[in-house]
Amino acid sequence: MDKKIIIAIDGFSSTGKSTFAKLIAKGLNYIYLDSGAMYRALTYYAMSAGFIGGKGEIKKEELQSSIEVGKLNIWFDLNDKGESQTIMNGVSVEQMIRKSKVSSLVSKIAELDFVRNFVDKKLRAIGENKGVVIDGRDIGTAVFPNAEIKIFMTATEEVRARRRYEELRSKGENDSYESVLEGIRKRDEIDQNREIHPLKKADDALELDNSSMTITEEIEWLNAILKPNFNLEIKF
Ligand code: DC
Repeated sequence: MDKKIIIAIDGFSSTGKSTFAKLIAKGLNYIYLDSGAMYRALTYYAMSAGFIGGKGEIKKEELQSSIEVGKLNIWFDLNDKGESQTIMNGVSVEQMIRKSKVSSLVSKIAELDFVRNFVDKKLRAIGENKGVVIDGRDIGTAVFPNAEIKIFMTATEEVRARRRYEELRSKGENDSYESVLEGIRKRDEIDQNREIHPLKKADDALELDNSSMTITEEIEWLNAILKPNFNLEIKF
């Protein structure tokens, strides 16, 4: 059997990382890990437990001790349609963590060192046997710096805002295109400038600008790298 590898996919928000990562995982029969979902679930947890005040201020000590005493367990499961679900303390939070309220607060939670340590530990534990596709912001630079394949995804702000806007509408959320674009700019700013593990292309990452690519073209692009180097082929 061919050796299993780690595929790390980083990049800006709404570049289609998770769509790409899920298809790769399915086509290789690998595990898909959504690191952003872990930060989102932690944010949802902090909101629900009252650790985020009305002005968005975070009660860091309370959140940290609550995590440290092991009150929080996050993992992934497949639903009956075979789709990845984020489970928190036994309950699916998949729908809740995608809401705009969570999106607007998550960068602040993801800046906290104890939060990043918690997520990194979980990801490394699941990924230690390889055969995983992980998407996020710091996977190739910090979480799995030895990943065999690192991809850094980009697309123009306008293309990303349009994708996000349409995704939200399909879920019945009515945010305006302008507010979605503004949200994307804000998140880019925080993600790129935070002190711990900022969003940054790893020196050895392959850049993929998919502003005008179809998902099929993206898979073909990756297959052209996987086949000769790892004898792997994504079937789709
Ligand atoms: O990919 P996403 O939009 O679901 O990620 C949600 C947030 O989590 C995003 O604002 C950045 C943060 N994040 C991070 O800091 N590091 C990661 N590896 C993944 C996500």
